[in-house]
Amino acid sequence: MPVTVCDLLAAKREGRRFAVLTAYDYTTARILAAADIPVLLVGDSLGMLMLGHRSTLPVTMADMLHHARAVARGAPEQLLVGDMPFNAYHASDGEAIANAAAFLQAGMHAVKLEGGGRVVALTHMLVERGIPVMGHLGLTPQFVNIFGGFRVQGRSPEAAERILDDARALQHAGAFSIVLEGVPRQLAGDVTRSLAIPTIGIGAGPECDGQVLVVHDLLGLTQDPMPKFVRPYGDLGARALAAARAYAHDVESGEFPDDEHSYH
Ligand code: KIV
Repeated sequence: MPVTVCDLLAAKREGRRFAVLTAYDYTTARILAAADIPVLLVGDSLGMLMLGHRSTLPVTMADMLHHARAVARGAPEQLLVGDMPFNAYHASDGEAIANAAAFLQAGMHAVKLEGGGRVVALTHMLVERGIPVMGHLGLTPQFVNIFGGFRVQGRSPEAAERILDDARALQHAGAFSIVLEGVPRQLAGDVTRSLAIPTIGIGAGPECDGQVLVVHDLLGLTQDPMPKFVRPYGDLGARALAAARAYAHDVESGEFPDDEHSYH
């Protein structure tokens, strides 16, 4: 049975936690689907992890749709969320609606938008047009230049109040869930308790309804130092390095290919 936004709302009502992971390609999406991860986010973090940019800001709709289509082919039963990249929803409402609709036409079931403020009205507009919206508050990476770096948000009482207000406004506008990124655990708990829709934490402590991690971090594929909130569950980066070195060694020494791997 395909996972839907209604399943996430039911999970919240019934107090069931759920896992979310990012996915950017067909092969990984198939593995995550086989692991029964219910929600896959085609995050704009692909700009750094798949394309080698230093931030998410250069990512385009064309980049996102290319990866979204691949994930949709690999995970037909998961709830798939396309991340609206920087500059895909700020110029005009018309452009924002067209870009969000393009994600649904590429096989996504919902879109994610960063921020509160004017994004609240946009959320309402998209939901009215049949496009489910996942909100994203706290350390929203597209605002890195406003924040002056990747810093935990919502530490002061005023900043915490703003995040709480934005979360309530997004829920009121029709968002079906909200990612809380890089906020103090206490604040994430307060937001979670004050909403009927699920919160999905990343660097926001254990009281959120769901958790999301970047799949490269989960698998130990990234070479950069891990942020404090990541627990790697694998070491695929080290294993891939060892495999590539062993292959090169065997080719250079003439051990590969051998007779067993040859046609006769
Ligand atoms: O782009 C992304 O991967 C994200 C998640 C980390 C929430 O926005």
